[in-house]
Amino acid sequence: MFQKIRYQLLFSYLVVFASLLGIFAIAVRVVFTRSLTQQTTDRLIAIGQGASANAEFEANRLTIESDFRPQNLIAAHQALQWFDTQGHLIAQQGQTVLTLPLLPSKMVQIQGGKSSAPEGSLRHVDKVRIQGVTVPIIASDNNHLVGYVRVSQSLEEFDETLQKLDWGLGGGIIMTLVLSGIGGILLTHQAMQPIEESFQRLKQFTADASHELRSPLMAIKINAELPLEYPDEIGPKDAEKFQAIASATNQMTHLTEDLLFLARTDKVPNQNWDTLNLKSILENLIVLYKPQAEVKQINLIFQLTGNLYLTGDSVQLTRLFTNLIENALYYTPSGGVVEIKTSRVGSQIYVNVQDTGVGIAPEHIDKVFDRFWRADQSRSYWKSGSGLGLAIAQVIAQNHGGLISVTSQLKAGSCFTVRLPSISS
Ligand SMILES: Nc1ncnc2c1ncn2[C@@H]1O[C@H](COP(=O)(O)OP(=O)(O)OP(=O)(O)O)[C@@H](O)[C@H]1O
Ligand SMILES: [Mg+2]
Repeated sequence: MFQKIRYQLLFSYLVVFASLLGIFAIAVRVVFTRSLTQQTTDRLIAIGQGASANAEFEANRLTIESDFRPQNLIAAHQALQWFDTQGHLIAQQGQTVLTLPLLPSKMVQIQGGKSSAPEGSLRHVDKVRIQGVTVPIIASDNNHLVGYVRVSQSLEEFDETLQKLDWGLGGGIIMTLVLSGIGGILLTHQAMQPIEESFQRLKQFTADASHELRSPLMAIKINAELPLEYPDEIGPKDAEKFQAIASATNQMTHLTEDLLFLARTDKVPNQNWDTLNLKSILENLIVLYKPQAEVKQINLIFQLTGNLYLTGDSVQLTRLFTNLIENALYYTPSGGVVEIKTSRVGSQIYVNVQDTGVGIAPEHIDKVFDRFWRADQSRSYWKSGSGLGLAIAQVIAQNHGGLISVTSQLKAGSCFTVRLPSISS
């Protein structure tokens, strides 16, 4: 139980932490990309302004000054293009030129990077992105627009930087999550320890209290039953009272036994378990409960297969099936049928205890294994029950590496299925 809570705590902690780290990484990525883009654009604008200063407009034609050396202005991964006002290319310098048409209204243009070719196609795909910045050329004498300079730059370096950032952030997040996971395991262990200890103390207390209650209850029971053996010496009213005391004491003894069992039953080490034949345990129980079923006019039938060997504690397993058979008999009215069936699927043994009794309402089906839970009508059916029988059955099944489940229909009957791992024989 605590292991599950620990994992849940650790998982929630890691989910919250991973979300925070994710938000942080996205914020860093966005801010970094924006400032890097801005820096690149500023640099290209500065180059474009330098190039536009070296363009001349003479005789209605845009020309580049003869003493201007564009290669001094641009680096290897950059290029320059001059356009007239109609967008016609006049000259260009450098390799990484944009092939997109000039769009004077759009200062920044980006080309490539996305593969538009279908998978497997041999068509050339521009993997390297190119950014272009368009700067207008204004004639110095009349302040008229005479053309445009478009400066372009390969974004390979830019993309590489972003890729390194992504790797850095991704790696950092994974490392942080691994380390915080280790830290989380230690922290949850520390946080759960006092709770586990107090739970153990509470369990111990329940076990001690139940144990201590046994002797006084036994004394009350003996003293209440003793006068009933001499009915002549007590009046009928007193006999009734003694009877009530004896029956209440029986009920309390039953309850303390169940509480003691639940408080003491933890995952029992199975080294001392024996190899058992479940078939003989069930046969003994059927012999034991046959008379009770006959008195109640219930048809107790069984269908047991061979090879039901498993390792376990015979006392505990007897208790498990006793609880199921008692329930089936108690919650089935006269004339009904209780059937015990076994089967083996692979390495699992299945035992079905099916009845044609009162059934369990769908809204109650999840509660039947809860400690002290009893359906309202069950309280009047069988007054001495405490609601611990199925909780005990479940603990025993789990201790044996098995499971217990139920299907039921109100007023039609219930079927409890116990699955236990068998040993191959
Ligand atoms: N075969 C069944 N048919 C119908 N209802 C059932 C059946 N078995 C269990 N229940 C319901 O589940 C409740 C819990 O069962 P459980 O065996 O835990 O307690 P109990 O039989 O009431 O008391 P005890 O602790 O003495 O066994 C019962 O009170 C009853 O309402
Ligand atoms: Mg019961």
